[in-house]
Amino acid sequence: MKNVVVVKLGGSVITYKHKSARGVNTHNLERVIAEMAETRKNLVVIHGGGSFGHSVALKNKVQFGKPISNNKGASETMLSMLELNKVVLEEMLKNGFAPISFPPHSFVLDKRIKKPFWQIFERAISEGFTPVTYGDVVLDQKTGFTIISGDQLASQLAIQLKAETLIFATAVDGVYKDYKSKNLIEVVDQYTNFKSITKDATGGIKNKVEQALLAAKAGVNTLILNATKPGLLKKAILNEEVKCSKIVWRNHGIQTS
Ligand SMILES: Nc1ncnc2c1ncn2[C@@H]1O[C@H](COP(=O)(O)OP(=O)(O)OP(=O)(O)O)[C@@H](O)[C@H]1O
Ligand SMILES: [Mg+2]
Repeated sequence: MKNVVVVKLGGSVITYKHKSARGVNTHNLERVIAEMAETRKNLVVIHGGGSFGHSVALKNKVQFGKPISNNKGASETMLSMLELNKVVLEEMLKNGFAPISFPPHSFVLDKRIKKPFWQIFERAISEGFTPVTYGDVVLDQKTGFTIISGDQLASQLAIQLKAETLIFATAVDGVYKDYKSKNLIEVVDQYTNFKSITKDATGGIKNKVEQALLAAKAGVNTLILNATKPGLLKKAILNEEVKCSKIVWRNHGIQTS
């Protein structure tokens, strides 16, 4: 599809991810959705779990599936994500979007979005809706259920919909050499080394880079940027230059670090 921009809204932007209680960061949520609305582009929105996803998933060990976890824990996690999803949809509606929600547990099997399902996203866009989905617990052949991250969904959808741009909007400027130094790597490829420490249920920045590389390899313009900084997300959607990490796939084995 032409002119589609896929935006993954990090749970670290729209919630207070590192607090134990669930809470929406209303200030950031309102601003990023207003920025997206101002672009008037065809968007597909995926949001992360933040404080609504990771802690309940980790508490229930949902990422391991059965027998370590159980159905009740999986359902509890799905319900928590539905609650965050509702808040996102309501804010989008207020800003002039016609959001249409696709809960992954109803269409993702074994961590893959099959063709009939991503075609529904295309149909929704051509009808003027804005598809919204999110990191969730999904059914899995081996372990009964598993987690699919918002980052994985974002990358699969960007590839399948042949998006012009995929933006991972998060709470850091991009990929740092290591988190302490805050030394930003402006161009990240499959050979780039960086240090990542994560305690969340879906692999944090490491998983994000892996997913971003898949999209870059498929030819999608792919960025990781800081959406807690006003204006950055809007500029990136409009294809203007911003401070961020651009993710590229090298075909000829050039080492950059
Ligand atoms: N080398 C690194 N570069 C950048 N961020 C890093 C690095 N190492 C660890 N991090 C952490 O990774 C976080 C970004 O990934 P994280 O998965 O927490 O965010 P998110 O995807 O926005 O949230 P969610 O998974 O809830 O959607 C940063 O906020 C930072 O704390
Ligand atoms: Mg994440």
